Amino acid sequence: MSKSKVKYVCSSCGHESLRWLGKCPSCGEWNSFSEEIVETKKKTARQAAESDIKKLSGDSGDEEKRIKTNIEEFDRVLGGGLIYGSVVLIGGDPGIGKSTLVMQAAEKADGRTLYVTGEESIRQINIRAKRLGVKSENLFLLAETDLDVIKDGILKSEADIVIIDSIQTINNPALDNAPGTVSQIRESTAELLRLAKTKEIVVILIGHVTKEGYIAGPKILEHIVDTVLQFEGEKNYSYRILRAQKNRFGSANEIGIFEMREDGLRQVKNPSEIFIGEREEEISGSVITASIEGTRPVLLEVQALVTPSHFGNPQRVATGFDYRRLSILLAVLEKRAKLRLSTANVFLNMAGGIKIDEPAIDLAVCVSIASSLTNRAARSDYVVIGEVGLGGEVRSVGRLDKRIQEAEKLGFGNIIVPKNNLKQKPKTSTINVIPAESILQAIDIVLR
Ligand SMILES: Nc1ncnc2c1ncn2[C@@H]1O[C@H](COP(=O)(O)OP(=O)(O)OP(=O)(O)O)[C@@H](O)[C@H]1O
Ligand SMILES: [Mg+2]
Repeated sequence: MSKSKVKYVCSSCGHESLRWLGKCPSCGEWNSFSEEIVETKKKTARQAAESDIKKLSGDSGDEEKRIKTNIEEFDRVLGGGLIYGSVVLIGGDPGIGKSTLVMQAAEKADGRTLYVTGEESIRQINIRAKRLGVKSENLFLLAETDLDVIKDGILKSEADIVIIDSIQTINNPALDNAPGTVSQIRESTAELLRLAKTKEIVVILIGHVTKEGYIAGPKILEHIVDTVLQFEGEKNYSYRILRAQKNRFGSANEIGIFEMREDGLRQVKNPSEIFIGEREEEISGSVITASIEGTRPVLLEVQALVTPSHFGNPQRVATGFDYRRLSILLAVLEKRAKLRLSTANVFLNMAGGIKIDEPAIDLAVCVSIASSLTNRAARSDYVVIGEVGLGGEVRSVGRLDKRIQEAEKLGFGNIIVPKNNLKQKPKTSTINVIPAESILQAIDIVLR
């Protein structure tokens, strides 16, 4: 016999409570609690058969066989393609281009694809396909939200890849809760995961994200799926970045860069050229640095604007860079480089709408702020690399050789690097490698 009771679950983080709460004590989200019905069923214990326990053979058989999407940027983020029997979750802001990405991947992929849409009608999908110029004999559509019908459709379509757009719209009729609630998302995902593993197919789930940028639904969702990808970008820029957050079958540091155009997403194979392409020659506050995104080095332009503040609290705005890190670097510049920044407004921007969380660009941030404050432009054929410590010292960074090679490839004549990195001589031919020990030294060399 089964009896049911009610609990309240936060739709943002999955926190459970016995009564309704206005604010989630776990994640701080307001108005996120929804009522869910818990069914408690008495179960008889199952037993493991002897044949269930298997010896590790180390032989992966066909498991390593991947379905290539034939979109290089996508395949690289996946670790070489989609693995049979795996579930991939793609999250991203509304309108960022998730449906576009999966549709373009489905067109080129080496397999039969079933695109299940719970958000748009077949006609709307066809309108998009026409705009993107997607034509494929291997792409089938199903407009449905009922999980049982979807599962049946998956089996009948004999698809290798199933796209669910989006997991929040799926309704599992076995549960009394509304679609989009935590239990619905969790249970539907678990069912699709089982299907993926038993039928050896790939399931790609599209997920909405909350205001904070997390995939809506319980955090547990990210644990059960094999791969979690984030599709991100700034609203006003056309660049989109596909980032692996978790990958059971590949590196989680990889990124793919795309440009959103009217006719869909275009791969950006040489990101450096784009991120530094619109740079004005020798303007104060602009400094070029080299970051490692995934396994690739990317050159980018750090821009700072420092103006006097006439009011009590100076403004500090950072776009594409961690705000707290900026505050620390400002304090270091004030104390160690004797720059008067406490009464100045500081605006920092990573050109091109890219977000960087690598300490290796600290030194470039410091030099660009010093450049704008003192109105001395940075020399245009310099690239600046280094982490900055609280003592104003320049600390070593990882994968220096790759960064130097990228700067050399794009025709830069000089590169400032942390002195401690130069215990081994870097492999270079034309670029002049200049060691720096402190921010003051770097500022002196780079600024005119
Ligand atoms: N005619 C057009 N010309 C140029 N860009 C367009 C055009 N139509 C759509 N786009 C771009 O495509 C984006 C929407 O793409 P898509 O529907 O794939 O996003 P999504 O992430 O699936 O959105 P949702 O969260 O609503 O499902 C728009 O934000 C816009 O940038
Ligand atoms: Mg969509």
